[in-house]
Amino acid sequence: MSPVPGPSGRLSGKTALVTGAAAGIGRAVADRFVAEGARVAYADRDAAGARTAATAATARPVAMDVTDEQSVAAGFAALAADGWVPDVVVVNAGVQLFGEDAAVADLDLDVWRRTHDVNLTGAFLTLKYAVRGMLTIGGGSIVLSGSPTGVRGEGSDFTAYASSKAGMHGLGRTVAAAYANRGIRVNTVIPPYTETGLVSTITQDPAARAAIVSRIPMGRAGTTADLEGVYVFLASDDSAFATGAAVAVDGGMTTL
Ligand SMILES: NC(=O)c1ccc[n+]([C@@H]2O[C@H](COP(=O)([O-])OP(=O)(O)OC[C@H]3O[C@@H](n4cnc5c(N)ncnc54)[C@H](O)[C@@H]3O)[C@@H](O)[C@H]2O)c1
Repeated sequence: MSPVPGPSGRLSGKTALVTGAAAGIGRAVADRFVAEGARVAYADRDAAGARTAATAATARPVAMDVTDEQSVAAGFAALAADGWVPDVVVVNAGVQLFGEDAAVADLDLDVWRRTHDVNLTGAFLTLKYAVRGMLTIGGGSIVLSGSPTGVRGEGSDFTAYASSKAGMHGLGRTVAAAYANRGIRVNTVIPPYTETGLVSTITQDPAARAAIVSRIPMGRAGTTADLEGVYVFLASDDSAFATGAAVAVDGGMTTL
């Protein structure tokens, strides 16, 4: 008789926090972390969405707007008060302002600011409180959701988004270098065009969708299931000697 398959438990004993966990990639990663044995805080500014997502016995929702330092601090403090100091944090909350983001000559300052507020300032604030907590428990692993647009000229009509993602990549490397000798690792996943709510504007436009899929050498859009495994790997002790890395799991979009 073959053994009954169960969760592999690669994150057993870990306490994770995932931002942007109410939907899309963050939701899939948080759910997979639960299945891998972690207890997981689902953080999102969409508090109702976080509550809906965090149904497992080892999951809990956290209302957190990553653009607001008080909100981020309060979220981490509430967890810590219950003995939940995350040793895994996924810095994932993000926005892409379709219909507003544009090539630089046409880009409004307000769109630039709103994009950077979530994607880059939000990453900074999440990292700040994640690192503070990890310093009290001897270290941990932080995983950022980056983008091909932050690495190469994929985002020519998305100046604000692409530059915020390039900023995240640099921020991740900087924090990785600063804390490498204190047990804190920081790595970045580069997903491709992945059909979540974030990119529904493209998904619903056959010409735009075909154009972006044509730039993925493996010939199809990404799915959240394509991505979960690399987040598990980077969160787990299997990647114990990896820090400052950017790992593309993007059907070749970034590198081919
Ligand atoms: N989908 C893609 O094609 C793609 C490609 C590369 C990178 N990414 C990145 O992956 C990450 C997740 O994207 P997704 O596709 O899952 O998006 P999504 O829109 O499906 O989900 C994003 C989540 O972030 C939350 N969020 C937004 N602003 C927030 C804030 N201020 N505070 C807290 N939560 C906030 C939203 O409520 C939502 O639940 C983003 O950083 C995105 O830039 C996505």
